[in-house]
Amino acid sequence: MRIPDQIIEQIRHDTDIVEVISDFVVLKKRGRNFLGLCPFHNEKTPSFNVLPEKGIFKCFGCGKGGDAITFLREHQKISYPEAVKLLAERLGISLPDDTDDHAQGESNRYENAYNVLRLAGNFFYKNLYADIGSEALQYVRLRGFSEETVKKFALGFSPDSFSATMSELKALGVSEEALLDAGLVGKKEETGRVYDRFRGRLMFPIQNPTGRVIGFGGRRMNDEDTASAKYLNSPQSLVYNKSEVLYGIFQAKDALRQLGYAILVEGYADLLSVHQAGFQNVVASSGTALTKEQLRLLSRFCKRIKIVYDSDKAGINAALRGLDLAVSEGFDVEIVRLPDGDDPDSIIQHDGKEAFQRRLEEALSLVDFKGEIFREQGLLATPTGSTEAVRSIMETIAKVPIQIKRDFMIRSVAHRFSLREADLYAELTQILRRNQFVDAKERSQMRLQEPSNPEPPPFEIDTNAAKRTTISVVNSQSAGDISADKYSQQTASTTAPIHDAFTLPPGKTLLPEEEELLRIALTIEGACAYMRKKEGVSEEFFITNEAKTLFLLIDRASQYGKPLDYLLKSSAQGDDVPSGIMGLVIRPENPSEGWQKLGAEISQDNVRIMYDCITRLKIRTLEIQIETLQTQHNALYSSGSIEETFQIIATMQELDKTKREMLSHLMR
Ligand code: CTP
Ligand code: MN
Repeated sequence: MRIPDQIIEQIRHDTDIVEVISDFVVLKKRGRNFLGLCPFHNEKTPSFNVLPEKGIFKCFGCGKGGDAITFLREHQKISYPEAVKLLAERLGISLPDDTDDHAQGESNRYENAYNVLRLAGNFFYKNLYADIGSEALQYVRLRGFSEETVKKFALGFSPDSFSATMSELKALGVSEEALLDAGLVGKKEETGRVYDRFRGRLMFPIQNPTGRVIGFGGRRMNDEDTASAKYLNSPQSLVYNKSEVLYGIFQAKDALRQLGYAILVEGYADLLSVHQAGFQNVVASSGTALTKEQLRLLSRFCKRIKIVYDSDKAGINAALRGLDLAVSEGFDVEIVRLPDGDDPDSIIQHDGKEAFQRRLEEALSLVDFKGEIFREQGLLATPTGSTEAVRSIMETIAKVPIQIKRDFMIRSVAHRFSLREADLYAELTQILRRNQFVDAKERSQMRLQEPSNPEPPPFEIDTNAAKRTTISVVNSQSAGDISADKYSQQTASTTAPIHDAFTLPPGKTLLPEEEELLRIALTIEGACAYMRKKEGVSEEFFITNEAKTLFLLIDRASQYGKPLDYLLKSSAQGDDVPSGIMGLVIRPENPSEGWQKLGAEISQDNVRIMYDCITRLKIRTLEIQIETLQTQHNALYSSGSIEETFQIIATMQELDKTKREMLSHLMR
């Protein structure tokens, strides 16, 4: 039966689209509208707009747009009437009754599958309180799960039979196709016979964020029976993809938003115990190693995670893996450690919720967690082991997409292992460089195979200056007939880099140009002021962190005359001269003409060298920017919009033009 037009109109009118979409996307208010990360394509900068006054959404990245009905249809993969029904439910509007619990001849396979799963969930739940489920109910009580928890998570029992569930559902009008689509029955290859998948198990319905049942986990109730798996899960089905699901997300939604962080556990039982103990912001990765998709789902609700996995070796490895993945998805991650042999469920059941609460409060940062694990493994006992440990920690830090966070972490690594920050930054630079290279390679391979969803490079370089010049370019052109193909040709034609922009010479923490410039600044009176005033050189201008630090130091010292003299004098009074400074003067190889004439006026020669170094550094910065954009462009090439791609290309061409000009200066 058709839903009358005026009811649809009313639903459209009354629906708060922001509220509807907020169930799936974190939206931030921007003026009168709302902005978030588009759920229909992968992006790191938000281009998904919701306009509450108009009741519509529009993504400028992938072009998807429409009203609340369109949103639900496309996002939840449901039919038009189904979407209208969902919205009507939210508003408390009753629709003319056209369906009951029976799956009617509806053509939509998705809806049928959802419907079957819902019916199956009801059936299992009912069984738990019937005679047939008495053993299961006893088991539930033994595990300490309350009536309220059973109800909230709709636990159930599947009869120990190859056909009971199937018969029950068929009697409700469910077709065999729908049963297969829902993953509730299996089919024997040879005979073509179908049979119930879940038999004699305690059933955990798995729900999507809107509360629809999309699959089940089933636990055996007799642990002596080692012939069967402890847990059996729904197979991948039309509506169930285990790598995209977080068990408990529906029940945790509000708490996740409210508290701003998620407690991530491994198992079904863990989740129930933790939730029941009052920590409602808990989700489980149950049955799979944590995936990117699960994290993306979670990121709609919060940006912080406390991982509480088992304390055994497998649990620690899973935590280490999850940590890296979550960090690279932009989460703040802490790890909760449990005593040997425990999991969250056992802690709460044996030691109580206060004990668990304490553990949560004692959660470790990534640096401390990895440090502790490596110490326990005995790695920190030797220099080689320690180096390996620090490397591994730096590898994780390199995945943190935000510079300031990395800075804090690096500070704590330096502190914990008594290392110089500059050395750690040098290590970081190398890792980033390597990762970027690997990423780019993977991406270009991926592009050849199948279009996928690549990401921007793992570090940021300020390309704002360049962007400002680009906007006008984009606006003044019609993007209509631009093909990404055509333009990607042009990007290949940027001038070849004159440097290997990121790589430091072996054993060095400074780039050669930086070293030369700093040496002049250090050893010639007035050089620093000259660089600042005439050439606009500041610490920002340098590329490596070591150089930035040294320049600041030299610049400060330059107020008192020749920086080197001042620094040596203060060292005589007991201050340390940083080893980086000593390195600049002691190095005999390749001396510049400038620093040999200590104390001399800034000669023409020195000015020329200075100028040369400055230009080379500028070119290097441009090359790094171009390289970054190239990676971004490669990423967008398969997934992004023409406009974005074009904007990047235009920026690259702009940067390359500047680079050419500078090169010609250098030649003169
Ligand atoms: N799991 C699974 N299949 C298995 C074993 C485990 O899918 N054969 C998943 C389940 O989601 C389970 C989680 O991995 O909850 C963790 O497994 P495990 O630690 O073995 O079980 P617990 O969660 O501790 O379950 P219980 O307390 O019921 O023994
Ligand atoms: Mn357990």
